[in-house]
Amino acid sequence: MTATELARKRVLVLGPALKALAEQALEGARIETVETDRAKALEALHPGLDLMLVDADAAGPDLTREVIEALANRPNGPGVLLIGAHLPAALVRALLKLDRSDVLEAPLVPAELTKAAVAVLARPAEEGSDRPSCRCWAVMGSVGGCGATTLAIELAALLAKKAAKPGAVALVDLNLAYGAAHAYLGGGTNMRLGEASGSPERIDAAILAAFAYRVDAGFDLFASPRDPMAFDRVSSAAVLRVLEMACQNYQAVIVDLPRFRHPWSLDVLSGADETLIVSELTVPALLSAQAFANEIEADAPGGRKPRLILNRMSNRPFGPAPSRAEAEKALGRKVDGAITSDWEAAACSVNLGGPISQHRPKSKIVKDVGAIIDRLTFEANRSTEQLPRIA
Ligand SMILES: Nc1ncnc2c1ncn2[C@@H]1O[C@H](COP(=O)(O)OP(=O)(O)OP(=O)(O)O)[C@@H](O)[C@H]1O
Ligand SMILES: [Mg+2]
Repeated sequence: MTATELARKRVLVLGPALKALAEQALEGARIETVETDRAKALEALHPGLDLMLVDADAAGPDLTREVIEALANRPNGPGVLLIGAHLPAALVRALLKLDRSDVLEAPLVPAELTKAAVAVLARPAEEGSDRPSCRCWAVMGSVGGCGATTLAIELAALLAKKAAKPGAVALVDLNLAYGAAHAYLGGGTNMRLGEASGSPERIDAAILAAFAYRVDAGFDLFASPRDPMAFDRVSSAAVLRVLEMACQNYQAVIVDLPRFRHPWSLDVLSGADETLIVSELTVPALLSAQAFANEIEADAPGGRKPRLILNRMSNRPFGPAPSRAEAEKALGRKVDGAITSDWEAAACSVNLGGPISQHRPKSKIVKDVGAIIDRLTFEANRSTEQLPRIA
């Protein structure tokens, strides 16, 4: 990283006295300044920040510690530079909780600040940090009611459980008109894409945070209020911008994707790391799954081959439903995962509001979804030779 690249960074300066120094040292950076007022400072810590400069003398030890702790709980948090003349050891120790931080003795000249900022921001790349780029998985059903939303919720919940900190995973419900994820989770519908569609470029990290609703299971839900006309009102640019911002701010983004195609569907499918097509074990559902898989491969060739997941597998070896082998024969391709039928666990969880892994953790559904995550993660790690991230 060079000093020129600092120009694209979003920098928050805590303590207006540092503003002039920051502007000289970080030329062209998008610098915001916030007063050393607790409420204002904590509110200003939105997820899109690249770097934070803290005037520790002006902020005082309590506020400085609070800011550091808020950032330490955040995946993909900004680099932090603590600047002060008499920094207590406890503060410096608190700073060690952050992956990317440094302490600078005041007073200092702009060149020192430039050097420290460049070093802190470059650290993950230089040291081969295992902090990953986001993984984005899209889930769609082959027919109505086959379990796409259920799978999307369980994926988000299990990935959130494996993550080191809450808030690392997002579930984005793109069934914009009548999405059910919020009802299944007992969550809020804060994603007001219709209003943001006029100027999608304004969907920044702060607006993303306002769209989010943190569910008890530890992930952030992005769901829209019920609106029969939503698909007409919401622009493609707004949908894609939300996904782009989500991918910048979370370690994993699970998308509950409607099976009917919208102007943005192919872009979402092309951008996703994985597409999971959920099918139940009936001939019409399997044929539909096969058709969707073929269409996606033809129309969104940039993406990976879609994965096929069979849902509501019977526990009984014999019965009217096709077996996995018969399903694979009908599909003309291998399936990538199968989820056992467990009506009691599924119904109990939607009625209580929350994932099955929260209310019925021993259900076979949870084990089966865990196996799907393990498989996809293993294959992703093998193909990119990256370290496992959150699963
Ligand atoms: N493995 C399972 N065992 C038992 N019930 C299940 C299972 N998976 C899903 N269900 C139940 O099936 C119903 C439909 O599931 P869900 O809403 O997830 O499907 P969907 O494909 O998202 O539907 P839609 O087409 O309406 O979006 C729900 O009541 C859910 O609890
Ligand atoms: Mg659904």
